[in-house]
Amino acid sequence: MDIMNDFSAAEFDRLDDLLAFVSIYDDDNRTQAYFNLLDKNVKNIRDKVCVEAGCGFGILAEHLAQLGAKKVYAVEANQHLYDIAAHRLSSYRNVELVCADIRDFSPREPVHLLVHEFFGQLLLDEDIYVLDQLTFVPKVILPNQARLNISVLPASEFVDACVTQIVLEKLKGALVAGLFDANNVQPEQLILTWQPGLKTYQTIVDIHDSPGDVLCFGLEIYHDDSFVCRAGECDNWSLVWTPRAGDQFLLKFTPANRGTFVQFRWLK
Ligand SMILES: C[S@@+](CC[C@H](N)C(=O)[O-])C[C@H]1O[C@@H](n2cnc3c(N)ncnc32)[C@H](O)[C@@H]1O
Repeated sequence: MDIMNDFSAAEFDRLDDLLAFVSIYDDDNRTQAYFNLLDKNVKNIRDKVCVEAGCGFGILAEHLAQLGAKKVYAVEANQHLYDIAAHRLSSYRNVELVCADIRDFSPREPVHLLVHEFFGQLLLDEDIYVLDQLTFVPKVILPNQARLNISVLPASEFVDACVTQIVLEKLKGALVAGLFDANNVQPEQLILTWQPGLKTYQTIVDIHDSPGDVLCFGLEIYHDDSFVCRAGECDNWSLVWTPRAGDQFLLKFTPANRGTFVQFRWLK
């Protein structure tokens, strides 16, 4: 879904976010994985003060309320999404909706649990870094781990009549989400991890002993080492592909005010 006409940069970003999130909520696997995660952690929700950071349409805040949270602060920066969440959550007396950047939100009481889904297809390429800039300290952050893995694979298994070997070569240096329709691939080599407070925004990866001429990157989300969901199995996160152009590369994330710049460079 693309917006075809002109808006101010700020309004374009808000509307573009809105459309991006419409497609997120079409992803039942992602949503069900998060519901399962909340259900498993009900002891940290029932009678507790909870925050959903970036509540979008409010579906996780609603689930927290239904699981018996004492109070749910549903915090959303995008006014359009806030309005939609307000509609969904208006009948829950234990939910307070806040239209703000989560970094500016100061709850009136100690927060037990914070739930978030700020992961990008390359793990750190969306808004996960904002959790390093909170004004409060939740006892539990859900989920609390994520990993970015790669596999180096033979391109011949993936190229087809449209994305041919020449097309692939033209994409040298570009990380392309969803280039190949190969959701059964599960990248296995861990190259980057995230956990709350671990401010690692770059990695240098050496693949000289891995044969293959195309790289495939895949996000995996965990809580306390229990698997939650992964790219490919959830439409929201595609696998990301790039042709091999060396034996060592840099992947670096630079947080901006909204979103993150991704730098990818072959070093050797
Ligand atoms: C991927 S969506 C997840 C929505 C919801 N948590 C869910 O899982 O269904 C991320 C949401 O966070 C919001 N967001 C991103 N950065 C934010 C920030 N700094 N403060 C508050 N909301 C933010 C976005 O507008 C979006 O609605």
